[in-house]
Amino acid sequence: MLKIGNIILDVPFFQASLSGYSDYAMRAIARDFGAPLTFAGVMLAKSVLHPRLFRNPLFKPGEDEHPVGAQLLGEDPETMAKAANLLRKTGYDLIDLNFACPTPKVVRRKRGGFLLNDPDKVIAIYNAVREAVDCPVTMKLRMSFDNQSYDNFWDICSRAVAGKVDALIVHPRTVCQRFTGSANWAFLTEVKKQFPGTIIIGSGDLFSAETIKNNIKNTGVDGAAIARGAIGNPWIFSQLRDGKDFVPPTLTQQGQVISKHFDLFSKLYGDKKAARYFRKFSVAYCKHHPQRKKAQEALFSAKTTEEFLAIVKQWYGL
Ligand SMILES: Cc1cc2nc3c(=O)[nH]c(=O)nc-3n(C[C@H](O)[C@H](O)[C@H](O)COP(=O)(O)O)c2cc1C
Repeated sequence: MLKIGNIILDVPFFQASLSGYSDYAMRAIARDFGAPLTFAGVMLAKSVLHPRLFRNPLFKPGEDEHPVGAQLLGEDPETMAKAANLLRKTGYDLIDLNFACPTPKVVRRKRGGFLLNDPDKVIAIYNAVREAVDCPVTMKLRMSFDNQSYDNFWDICSRAVAGKVDALIVHPRTVCQRFTGSANWAFLTEVKKQFPGTIIIGSGDLFSAETIKNNIKNTGVDGAAIARGAIGNPWIFSQLRDGKDFVPPTLTQQGQVISKHFDLFSKLYGDKKAARYFRKFSVAYCKHHPQRKKAQEALFSAKTTEEFLAIVKQWYGL
């Protein structure tokens, strides 16, 4: 069980925020396979407040997908608070604040992971958002901006904990590291030791159910946020729930999931764009196919939803 504020999850894991991936379609599939909570990709607070975005149907969570979290990126406490309030009214159940994103464009604009250099700003944003919404507020952090000093991380955590943050989601790499090296899960043991009364969620290099279980057990963290390990691999959630030995999905099961995912996806993006936009998912799903490269090429050749679904039928024996 995992309790984040008033949100109670029956299992200690969920689907992380994944920009460019975790739209309604991916979230629905993750939920089908047992993710008890999912997150939309990060949203820039300034854009959330733009009336055009608010009218975009992609922006709203589905009525059938609660609890679902939104994540905000920004540097101005007031704008973040207003955006959080709007997201809450739109139907999101939880607001996560991004102080982790390492993308150069984001860091240059002094947002995301850059803010680990500025604990006062982070706490001002947290306090403003906390005040603005009536739902759990969590923070996504990396363990430091660079490897010079971890003092800011500990300072931010202490003050957020004092301010009753509902959970700290920590990816134990530095911002400067981006995705190189490996996630330092030993660091998470320290975080949990320092803040035993706060929900600590680990993120980083979680590609199999076994790793996730072991990492939770070995570090004492309260749960795990599954990110890249869930792309094209929703089975990771059912494997974690079953707790049995990993049984790979059959070709038919793979084909059924790809078809369902694509069907939801094409409803979001339209027939013309869906086949092209879905390629990133095809790459990931095809990793399970015995003829990975050929299956991927075949899926890439589809131009319309009809073509795509016919190719899935052919390659997955549906
Ligand atoms: C394509 C991609 C998009 C991501 N988007 C977000 C995001 O929107 N918000 C966020 O907090 N983290 C984001 N992340 C980071 C992940 O949530 C996660 O913390 C990180 O990938 C480490 O976990 P993993 O190694 O298990 O993937 C993203 C990562 C990737 C690879």
